[in-house]
Amino acid sequence: AKPIIIDCDPGADDAIALFLALAFPEKLDVLGITTVAGNVPLHLTQKNARCLCELAGRADLPVYAGCPRPLLRPLITAEDVHGRTGLDGIHLPEPTMPLQEQHAVDFLIDTVMRSTGNITLATLGPLTNLAVAIVKQPAICQRLQEVVMMGGAATQGNITPSAEFNVYVDPHAAQVVVTAGIPLTIVSLDVTNQAIATPERLSTIEAINSPISAAAIGLLNHYGAYDMQRYGFPGPPLHDPCVIAYLLQPDLFTSRRAYVAIETTSELTMGRTVIDQWHVTNQPANATVIESIEAEGFYQLLTQAIDRFKEH
Ligand code: BDR
Ligand code: CA
Repeated sequence: AKPIIIDCDPGADDAIALFLALAFPEKLDVLGITTVAGNVPLHLTQKNARCLCELAGRADLPVYAGCPRPLLRPLITAEDVHGRTGLDGIHLPEPTMPLQEQHAVDFLIDTVMRSTGNITLATLGPLTNLAVAIVKQPAICQRLQEVVMMGGAATQGNITPSAEFNVYVDPHAAQVVVTAGIPLTIVSLDVTNQAIATPERLSTIEAINSPISAAAIGLLNHYGAYDMQRYGFPGPPLHDPCVIAYLLQPDLFTSRRAYVAIETTSELTMGRTVIDQWHVTNQPANATVIESIEAEGFYQLLTQAIDRFKEH
């Protein structure tokens, strides 16, 4: 199984991404979950991650709390999307599994430095933890097999017309990451907006009729209401699960190499991911930019994942 660390800010779509990752232990070996401030503050994201692990029957997984705020900018959260708890739409009991004492950044550094270079990091929130880890121990850049991040938008942003939420919340961290010389794969909004949970796809998941499917539906119904109203989508786009799907089944995606930079000065376009898809800057490519997802295959994979928890 591929060893991975998941850095996240749960968050409804982060929750679904965790279910997807934990459903295939023979393919993905989740070494730990690190949390960051993003959709909701850190004290909630770390708690939510533990609630979700318990729900998924994985109270054994180590969960770490990381950075409570972005590098330079004040924290912006997304309660309008994910609710006040970050997991509105469901009620989970207070977690009984512990929060690890070690800081998420130190767990990341130690685990990657002790590895043979085979660890993949999936980032599903603002990039603060990874940026701090890079600054503290730059040698992780050569030791990470790959970083696959959900973030950015080549076309329209979702938090401003220019920017996608994860990059907008901590654009300076994103800039540290894209300039670090890390093997980086970017799953942007342009891709994740192709992965919409239509009513038909939701009813297929609902029909599984298990605690995990009920939680997924509760979360997505709440989160979908925002996406339908604000963006006119026929259902919620499952942003973060696309990263995990890429690790499980890369043939669902197409990509190209490109040079990517982050806007960190203009207020108007703050957090814009500038993606040079036509090589007009002559800058060497620093990322693999995913361009498309085969949505039907993605929903088959997700349905299979949720169904698997019945057997566990
Ligand atoms: C990203 O922002 C968050 O609200 C979601 O969890 C996802 O990671 C999408 O822009
Ligand atoms: Ca997220």
